[in-house]
Amino acid sequence: MCGIFGYIGPSAAAPLLISGLRRLEYRGYDSAGIAVINGDLDIYKKVGMVKELENILPATVKGNIGIAHTRWATHGGVTDANSHPHASEDGKVALVHNGIIENANALRNQLRKRGIVLKSETDSEVLVHMINLEYQSGAAPLTAVRRTLRRARGTWGICVIFLEHEKIICARNGSPLVIGIGEKETFIASDPHALTSHTQKVIYLEDGELAVLTAGDVKTSRNSGKIVDPTIHILDDDWGESELGDYPHYMIKEIHEQPDALRQCITGRINLSDGTGRLGGLRLSPKKLQAIPHVRLIACGTALNAALVGRLLIEKLARVPSLAHVASEFRYNDPVIDAKGLYFVVSQSGETADTLSAVKEIQTKGGTVMGVINVVGSSIARQCGAGAYIHSGPEQAVASTKAFTNMVAALTLFAIQIGRSRTLSRQNGRALVKGLREIPEQMGKYLSNQGPIMEAVEIIKEAKSVLFLGRGISSPVAREGALKLMELAYIPCLAYPSGEMKHGPIALLEEGSPVVVICPNDELKPKVLSAIHECKARGAKIILICEEGDEIAAEADVSICVPNTDPLLSPMLTVLPLQLIAYHTALELGLNVDRPRNLAKSVTVE
Ligand code: F6R
Repeated sequence: MCGIFGYIGPSAAAPLLISGLRRLEYRGYDSAGIAVINGDLDIYKKVGMVKELENILPATVKGNIGIAHTRWATHGGVTDANSHPHASEDGKVALVHNGIIENANALRNQLRKRGIVLKSETDSEVLVHMINLEYQSGAAPLTAVRRTLRRARGTWGICVIFLEHEKIICARNGSPLVIGIGEKETFIASDPHALTSHTQKVIYLEDGELAVLTAGDVKTSRNSGKIVDPTIHILDDDWGESELGDYPHYMIKEIHEQPDALRQCITGRINLSDGTGRLGGLRLSPKKLQAIPHVRLIACGTALNAALVGRLLIEKLARVPSLAHVASEFRYNDPVIDAKGLYFVVSQSGETADTLSAVKEIQTKGGTVMGVINVVGSSIARQCGAGAYIHSGPEQAVASTKAFTNMVAALTLFAIQIGRSRTLSRQNGRALVKGLREIPEQMGKYLSNQGPIMEAVEIIKEAKSVLFLGRGISSPVAREGALKLMELAYIPCLAYPSGEMKHGPIALLEEGSPVVVICPNDELKPKVLSAIHECKARGAKIILICEEGDEIAAEADVSICVPNTDPLLSPMLTVLPLQLIAYHTALELGLNVDRPRNLAKSVTVE
């Protein structure tokens, strides 16, 4: 989603802004722009990729102070005029904004009444005019920004530059901003990974805070005016894994990284002799675990699918009632929060606005919420204060793959941990942790011999729609397979628990309709087999994901086998062929697998 980068220091700003934007490209965007103080306030913005913006930049952009933006359209179409930065009418103030100004219409009308002509359809543009009005009436830059934000409702991460001042003013409310402190130079970005090639020293701006950046110095304060003493964090992420290497796309690279990523996630978190898992960051003793009356997991998209696997495992292994919730619905359903319950939010980016709102709702109502997060130091991780990192390493393709398997692994460890504090025997716990330890190798084995993926792609690629079926623990895996194929290949996909298929989706089936069935060797297999027969009787083509050596393979048009494991651990293996099917279908259709249309990696608006 939208990205921000800014620079103030001795070097030429423009090349740094462009390289900063490149590091934000993976988040997904539709236009890009920069503003640099270069005698005048020079602004260049363009619909399309950062390289198209680069193409229109003249060599004469020489200034040392600048701000930059990648836009993912929310208010107003994808046009050059709607791209950021936005400038005041006199060209003395420029601004970039992430987030949404909810009262933009009212503010827009007030500006029009004062004779100001707005050049874009965006909510963001109102801010720059309001700031300039304050500035023209004599307010200092920081005061002008502060007064403007007091009148705005919504979310923002903003950076503002003033032609007549050597500083960048930033403010955050619900949209992340991280300040990077270098030698006599200062950076700002919406994502710490854009900073790591310049500095490891960062300050995370908190909601309701503003910062004044000068070359090598930062002053932070609250919106009320109170000075804040910022904490400096040291980033340990050098973003080294972000290079494509020999892979043609990030998605396939990340699919193949899953065995190593999973090792990173489980290393040091397994106690084989006690047959348990240990997520130390949760700070939950067996006594505390025993007292938890129920567990709730909240997430979006792929993370929600992982949460759905996790909730089944927790309930099965610990006999604790457990539910997963859609984050975007959670807060608005006015949920009852039980202070004794345990709430988890699951998120790769740690920046998803819907998930962050759920965290705040739980905390406001006195609940305990922990993060299961990939990005270290992200807003959700910091807001929760406790939880477990999944250690997938940077995930750059918009479609999530290695984060899914690691979320499932972390939740499996938790399910075993809470299970052992209750009914799960040492023997059964040991069998599970042993099985979990083998998964990375089994993943590697499958990935080196993937089975007839391309035969499945042949059946799917021209289909009007694809039905995904699974039962029990494989039902969320079916959802994940459908989500991946839909987002990458733009084919309408439905995912259903296989027993529910006959209550509606069966009406879609006709001669040749592809049905992808996930069926590990568990006690539900006979039931899934009945669903397969019902589909075949209507002419459907069955693509089956099953375990090696299982005779059920003969029932399908295409069978893709994964190594044998405990059925409760199977999602980490059965999901692999589904990721590959989505990837190769998108490629066959000539689509951009790493940057599917309309999607963003980090969804920072509600
Ligand atoms: C799908 C995908 C999205 C994300 C969702 C939540 O491939 O990537 O559905 O899973 O937007 O994102 P995070 O996990 O960052 O909260």
